[in-house]
Amino acid sequence: EKDGHDWFMRKEIFEQPRAVADSLLGRRTSAGLLQLDEMRLSDDELRETDKIIIIACGTSFYAGMVAKYAIEHWTRIPVEVELASEFRYRDPILTASTLVVAISQSGETADTLQAIRHARLQRSRVLAICNTNGSTIPRESDAVIYTHAGPEIGVASTKGFLTQLVACYLLALYLAQVKGTRFGDEITEVVDQLDSIPGHLQQVLDDAESVYALAREHVDSRSVLFLGRHAGYPVALEGALKLKELAYLHAEGFAAGELKHGPIALVEEGLPVLCVVPPRGRDQLHAKMLSGIQEVRARGARTICLAEHGDDTIAPYADVLVRLPQVPVLLQPLVAVVPLQLFACELATALGHDVDQPRNLAKSVTVE
Ligand code: M6R
Repeated sequence: EKDGHDWFMRKEIFEQPRAVADSLLGRRTSAGLLQLDEMRLSDDELRETDKIIIIACGTSFYAGMVAKYAIEHWTRIPVEVELASEFRYRDPILTASTLVVAISQSGETADTLQAIRHARLQRSRVLAICNTNGSTIPRESDAVIYTHAGPEIGVASTKGFLTQLVACYLLALYLAQVKGTRFGDEITEVVDQLDSIPGHLQQVLDDAESVYALAREHVDSRSVLFLGRHAGYPVALEGALKLKELAYLHAEGFAAGELKHGPIALVEEGLPVLCVVPPRGRDQLHAKMLSGIQEVRARGARTICLAEHGDDTIAPYADVLVRLPQVPVLLQPLVAVVPLQLFACELATALGHDVDQPRNLAKSVTVE
């Protein structure tokens, strides 16, 4: 049942090319338009949307953080992302033209369920992004986009996360199509890029052994930091969460620009810092990330850099270089998170922990 893998988690990491491909299947009409079949909201209802609030917990929350970058960029609709457990306790501003997007792999997370109930009482429309057919959250929502990861057994979310990202990108592009904020060929170009992701993922997975070796070098680490910027920031947070929940290690993710505002004080000789380097582009992101890496390295950190193939600027500052496929910055989380999943899975295995059933955790959290 684990297809020869030691853990469900590892099996599920390796299923990701298939899971992403399945989540992209059948999304184009013969006219080349994007379609979201199971979406029960009309285009008119979507056009009325003037604000989006994404609510979720844990890894699903990080998918929501990535979604904010994509939705705002492609649609110009303002997006807030909020932890479901905080949402209804702060008297959020919700109207009939607010679209609440609830992201939940299980569809049973109590915090998220209570949050959508609150939103519906305020007459907002709720769209669920969910992996579990017929679960409570999609049943209580106005609309749903199902992800097609297949059952996720490992407590740590992996393929669930990747397929949530795909659903978020599709939602963003669909809104752009409906609102006319992007031209059809721009949308087609991104969908084509998404279609090439399964192949890129396979490449990353083919390199798993080198990430495993790296992970095993860190069995004695007491703390690990993760840095990212832009869409790489939620990836850093997700990398840290994986390490906490599986290896029981102190791990923290930071937006690289925040380093000098406090976290850099944590850096000491030999501290592993995993850095998600944005693709080289016309903006300043890449250069700024590079200077963050230099700063931590100058203070003794061991820099483990995830950077795209062909990026040679990074080599002088990387103690270890993990190569990523070349994809646009908004899509980079899809490929950048995979080495971090492999790293956490292998490190936890080396420490002798039960990767599929980490201590104190449950697969779906059905109490608030
Ligand atoms: O089923 P959900 O997506 O609603 O679950 C949300 C979180 O409980 C979940 O992502 C959790 O953080 C995972 N253990 C992370 O690996």
